[in-house]
Amino acid sequence: MANVLILGANGGVARHATDLFLKVTQARLTLGLRNPSRLKNADPARIRVMECDVLELEGLKKAMAGQDVVYANLAGDLERMARNIVKAMDATGLKRLIFISSMGIYDEVPGEKFGGILDPYRKSAAVIEASDLDYTILRPAWFTQADEIDYETTQKGQPFKGSQVSRKSVAALVVKLAESPGLEVRRSLGVSQPG
Ligand SMILES: NC(=O)c1ccc[n+]([C@@H]2O[C@H](COP(=O)([O-])OP(=O)(O)OC[C@H]3O[C@@H](n4cnc5c(N)ncnc54)[C@H](OP(=O)(O)O)[C@@H]3O)[C@@H](O)[C@H]2O)c1
Repeated sequence: MANVLILGANGGVARHATDLFLKVTQARLTLGLRNPSRLKNADPARIRVMECDVLELEGLKKAMAGQDVVYANLAGDLERMARNIVKAMDATGLKRLIFISSMGIYDEVPGEKFGGILDPYRKSAAVIEASDLDYTILRPAWFTQADEIDYETTQKGQPFKGSQVSRKSVAALVVKLAESPGLEVRRSLGVSQPG
């Protein structure tokens, strides 16, 4: 039974992932977010909600104590966040990281150049790829709110396929990865709805 720390737990994909973890796994969840009053604890036997600003290293290390898997669902200064996550995981001896990024960071989307807007995503992915963590970076297509799980993945180095994917699909992949040690480790996956 895995202990999973969700960073940025009030985010759109993270809230779907929390629901799925509760429904389809036995995992125990720590929901880390900047303002814990924004989330209600749906299952106090399995969920702990705690204040966690990823830009604050000491608090991040505390949140990591006793965890098996770290799932980062963040936006903002992603490079600094990634540096803190790697430092805190190294300091606490954790290995498994699932990190939500974006399609386009390797200019892998045929016919699309996203430019500087993706720099925080590019730089954070580079920080994680340079670590010795067991990471999986997810590069989703444009999000939809569809209530469906339907996705395919592409590896780094392959052209990206598709243009959209439901948040729920990305959440389902996060849950599968968290529950399957060794699956897609040290990989960066494009995630999209099959065409
Ligand atoms: N929109 C798209 O189509 C699309 C496509 C591909 C990838 N993406 C990217 O995928 C990622 C996940 O998407 P999403 O929709 O789930 O994102 P989201 O709803 O914007 O969630 C991001 C979370 O990051 C948290 N956060 C920001 N700074 C933080 C800090 N210092 N410490 C802790 N938490 C912090 C925010 O927390 P607060 O609640 O405290 O603000 C927010 O809940 C994002 O980076 C998004 O840009 C988006």
